[in-house]
Amino acid sequence: MAEFLTGLKRTKMCGEFRSNDIGKKVVAMGFVAKYRNLGGIQFIDLRDRTGIVQVNFSASDHPEVYAKSEAIRNEFVIAVEGMVVARGEKNINTALPTGAIEIEATSLRILSEADTTPFLIAEDIKAGEQLRLKYRYLDLRRQTLQKNLIVRDQIMRATMDYMARKGFVHIETPMLGKSTPEGARDYLVPSRVHSGTFYALPQSPQIYKQLLMISGMDRYYQIAKCFRDEDLRANRQPEFTQIDLEMSYVDDIEDVMKVAEGLIRNIFKTTIGYNVPKKIRRIKYAEAMDRFGSDKPDTRFGLELINLTKLMKSVGTEFAVFQNNIKKGHSVRAINAKGLAGYTRKQIDALQDVVKEYGAKGLAYIAMKPEGISSPIAKFFAEDQWSALIKAVGGETGDLILFVADKDKVVYDALGALRLAIAKKENLIPQDTYDMLWVTHFPLYAYNEEEKRLEAMHHPFTSPVTADLKYLDKKPLKVRAKAYDFVINGQEAGGGSIRIHSREIQEAMFRRINLTEQDITDRFGFFVEAFRYGVPPHGGLAFGLDRLVMLLTGTDNIKDVIAFPKNQSAACLMSDAPSEVEPKQIAELSIEIKK
Ligand code: AMO
Ligand code: AMP
Repeated sequence: MAEFLTGLKRTKMCGEFRSNDIGKKVVAMGFVAKYRNLGGIQFIDLRDRTGIVQVNFSASDHPEVYAKSEAIRNEFVIAVEGMVVARGEKNINTALPTGAIEIEATSLRILSEADTTPFLIAEDIKAGEQLRLKYRYLDLRRQTLQKNLIVRDQIMRATMDYMARKGFVHIETPMLGKSTPEGARDYLVPSRVHSGTFYALPQSPQIYKQLLMISGMDRYYQIAKCFRDEDLRANRQPEFTQIDLEMSYVDDIEDVMKVAEGLIRNIFKTTIGYNVPKKIRRIKYAEAMDRFGSDKPDTRFGLELINLTKLMKSVGTEFAVFQNNIKKGHSVRAINAKGLAGYTRKQIDALQDVVKEYGAKGLAYIAMKPEGISSPIAKFFAEDQWSALIKAVGGETGDLILFVADKDKVVYDALGALRLAIAKKENLIPQDTYDMLWVTHFPLYAYNEEEKRLEAMHHPFTSPVTADLKYLDKKPLKVRAKAYDFVINGQEAGGGSIRIHSREIQEAMFRRINLTEQDITDRFGFFVEAFRYGVPPHGGLAFGLDRLVMLLTGTDNIKDVIAFPKNQSAACLMSDAPSEVEPKQIAELSIEIKK
């Protein structure tokens, strides 16, 4: 039978007891993390959010309490009254902040019994992720996960504090709205009242926050829930949180970047005491792609890409793969993996598997072993071609040089992923550093191969770089955007842009991405109309809150920083969402389910 507290109050939380409590009568409450009965004396570890305190029950001193304590099992919720005493010299546990003391129990209440849990709740957890997600509330009893949620809270508070100081107003925007233009698939919510119509959950508050600028709210921010039905990865959830902001009367990207840097500085300082450097590096998109094959480059290590296209054109080669790709206007690029010439065939095959995942057709290599060259392509190079090639890649004895020839996109993706894979495997990535940089000068448009049309690279409200406006008609792919991404340790932590505030440019933008007048009216009619009534120049950005928590807690799994996350197939294993609903509910929505 569960007992009640009936007036009993905690003195303090478990992890807070210290030597200066010795001699005090106290009350402690918590979960039983561990119990050990040594015959005549029972020890338990009592756990709450703040940590663990040891409690002991003595048969000789308090026989009745001791007898009652024999029923205790793991995860029982108990309250004990007792006296804080010093532990004997040799029993001090220096690993625990409470390790110098223990509580000698004088009374015990069993507030709740517990069945044996499906897995042992311990920091070095052995249970598989599936099981832990099913019993998420049990997994959340672990200190690591609790700490992550506490850091998350600290980041949110640091954000609110900083944004308020800078004159931003926290404003909520609707969850039930119209489809937004971030480019992922929407989560739709059917309307019962207006049968056959749907709300879309926001992929971001983008349109609303711009409308708030048109409303004259001047500076907006929101800790905003966003929903995107897209392929999930280690740093992506279908439902995630942004620190979203927008500001009026911004002249250029600098104004927004300054606020964003200030916010990041405040977050890192208050949560982990880390001083973000005064100057944050910037790299242009084109350079990031060229050197790292990625628009979110991890610059904590080398292994940069080397473009060999020009060289191959001028010195030539008999290697048909290179020849053909160059003929098609593609590129040949390489990575010099210093000192890895000793890789076995099997290891090189594993690297080949990495690039193939990104569409590369092969991975040519040159292993410059001390005993001689090992390479499937050496035979295709005449002596002068060979020496020019080796010089271009800075090849020395001991190096493993890896090549991909293909369309730029494939080469970038493949070698970009390859350098990360090699760096991980070889432990080339320094830990405990925060490598922060801005990527700027993104292209305004990207070409959608499948649909054979231009699309907005960021979203269609992003302003072109003024100097590039002249290319808008004839060479749209040359137009760069006033957009910026914030990258930390090779992760896209945030991104934003200066928005178009001219009606003419906004309409031209829509036309360029092949939206007809009808499309525009249907999708953004209300938004375009708002542009007729006065629009302050504005811009903004959004940080991924979950990703910031990941970086600050040092986890590479986004589920570790969300209380109730979804699994890789967007399901909640605990509640079984999504699930079927009553036929009556479906009928009310005028929807039919096809089996
Ligand atoms: P963007 O689409 O770049 O920009 O999103 C901003 C930031 O949100 C994070 N993020 C995610 N985090 C977890 N799971 C996801 N599925 C996910 N998708 C995005 C990333 C990303 O940098 N409206 C614009 C912002 C603007 O222009 O102001 C936007 O949403 O860290
Ligand atoms: P093959 O001529 O198909 O035997 O290929 C010779 C070498 O070139 C092998 O190591 C292949 O992995 C590699 N290779 C094939 N296609 C490409 C490509 N597009 N880029 C780089 N290397 C390639």
